[in-house]
Amino acid sequence: MGENQPEGMKEFFDLRAETYDSHMFKNVNNFREFYEAVARPVRQTGNNIKILDLGCGTGLELAAIFLRAPQAKITAVDLSAKMLNKLLEKYHRQHSQIEIRRASYLTAPFEEEHYHYAVSVMTLHHLTEAEKLKLYKKIARALKPGGEYIEGDYIALSREEESSFLAERRQRLKGTDKEDSALYHIDIPFTLGKQEKLLSRAGFQGFQVIYQAGENAVYRAKI
Ligand SMILES: C[S@@+](CC[C@H](N)C(=O)[O-])C[C@H]1O[C@@H](n2cnc3c(N)ncnc32)[C@H](O)[C@@H]1O
Repeated sequence: MGENQPEGMKEFFDLRAETYDSHMFKNVNNFREFYEAVARPVRQTGNNIKILDLGCGTGLELAAIFLRAPQAKITAVDLSAKMLNKLLEKYHRQHSQIEIRRASYLTAPFEEEHYHYAVSVMTLHHLTEAEKLKLYKKIARALKPGGEYIEGDYIALSREEESSFLAERRQRLKGTDKEDSALYHIDIPFTLGKQEKLLSRAGFQGFQVIYQAGENAVYRAKI
């Protein structure tokens, strides 16, 4: 495989699971503030509220979420068995609260009107507009009425930047046999404006950016 050829998503994270947390700690600016912001909309409660975590990886977002809701029941969805193993190692005290689903969030069914919150962190920036919209509609159906979706992700800072990521993706996918696959590790972050539009088209309301530091942002919306 050439140097610039895309890697498959699962293989990419299986290979990096061991060093993932330290990589993120070094490379996400204001790591703590970012992950605290992801947890901030979760109400402080001793109840066993239900949270769907899409692309949970090793569960970096769960530490701050458990501080606010120590009894929360987490449905942890990820493609990579190695990332999920790390999550289980780290959160061995909360095993009975965590249900692991090794699956793609694009195809796995979710229970309907079941979750108080859904979160996705640093994982959806590989999806095209159509794939994201379809997934947002599925998340909207999975939330209870009044439920909330929280996304922390890598964003494009302008429409020009967004277009250049998409052009690069087209280039990198040439010669692969899955031109429209979301399962390649290629970054195509969107602007906050586009995120707001997609969430609103999926039926979410009250889009709010609660944190931004350069290209990392956390936003929320309600159903
Ligand atoms: C950069 S990591 C983020 C992990 C964690 N949320 C965090 O903030 O550290 C992206 C994760 O998303 C997972 N992922 C990517 N595409 C996925 C898909 N279609 N279905 C399930 N998991 C996916 C990867 O396996 C990886 O563990």
